[in-house]
Amino acid sequence: MLDQYAVFGNPIAHSKSPQIHTWFAKQTHQSLEYRAILAPEDGFEASANAFFAQGGLGANVTVPFKLDALVFANTLSPRARRAGAVNTLQKGKNNQIYGDNTDGIGLVRDLTTNLNFNLAGKKVLLLGAGGAARGVVEPLLNAGITQLHIANRTPEKARQLVDIFHGLQPKAQLTSSYWQGLEGRQFDLVINATSSSLAGDLPPLPEGLFASESQAYDLMYSQKPTPFMLWAQQQGASQVADGLGMLVEQAAEAFFLWRQVRPATQPVFEYLRPVKHV
Ligand code: ATR
Repeated sequence: MLDQYAVFGNPIAHSKSPQIHTWFAKQTHQSLEYRAILAPEDGFEASANAFFAQGGLGANVTVPFKLDALVFANTLSPRARRAGAVNTLQKGKNNQIYGDNTDGIGLVRDLTTNLNFNLAGKKVLLLGAGGAARGVVEPLLNAGITQLHIANRTPEKARQLVDIFHGLQPKAQLTSSYWQGLEGRQFDLVINATSSSLAGDLPPLPEGLFASESQAYDLMYSQKPTPFMLWAQQQGASQVADGLGMLVEQAAEAFFLWRQVRPATQPVFEYLRPVKHV
């Protein structure tokens, strides 16, 4: 039997992870099988237990199971613990399950390697304070940004994130507010980590948030530009991206953890998105 890997989610039918990992495996001459598993909403633990009991070696975990995976893992990477979510599981010695989070490093790698956006010394605005936002804070701080402002519809949640990550990089300034607290401020990078794009919606953001040479990034990806991406273009962001590159890069990090081989991501990205859409 080939080495077994999988992605767990609900829904999962449209997941690109099986395609991505199958590409990586072909490119790096690794013999493995990667499939999508639809777990019942209240049945992640049972599904994951069955998968690993049947010989599964590693798994990715997507919505809505990243918290279940955090609880499921026997040991956690420090970044997964701080992110409060696990997107990658690996079976280790004595069948112990290790949980990691590669989402944030996937974002940083997409920004720096694929989009040529140097994060060092940058002022960053993070919109949203839910699971997706929390997952990207630590790698952004570690990449050398000097300011991180977190704005959220429920400002207490943004403040909680500041408390969690405060002090991790003493040179970086961490602040938070409601949308109104953004008036008159400018940022080099604005990241949309709210789920508002799902509803075709956009937070009520003030004008003039983008500095010159600025980057806008929506963690979501879709066939069409999201409302946030269209707005960022209108507002004069120099470069606008969705989260497809992050998806491919977080997958590459997981693949590296499992197989100790780093796949090239550009060919896979071009295959998934042959034409740039903005
Ligand atoms: P995810 O795992 O995608 O981050 P989540 O943890 O439910 O999902 O968080 C969703 C985030 O999007 C939150 O920051 C949420 O704001 P609240 O904390 O106030 O709930 C934000 N969000 C969702 N819908 C939104 C909308 N229509 N406008 C602005 N923010 C929205």
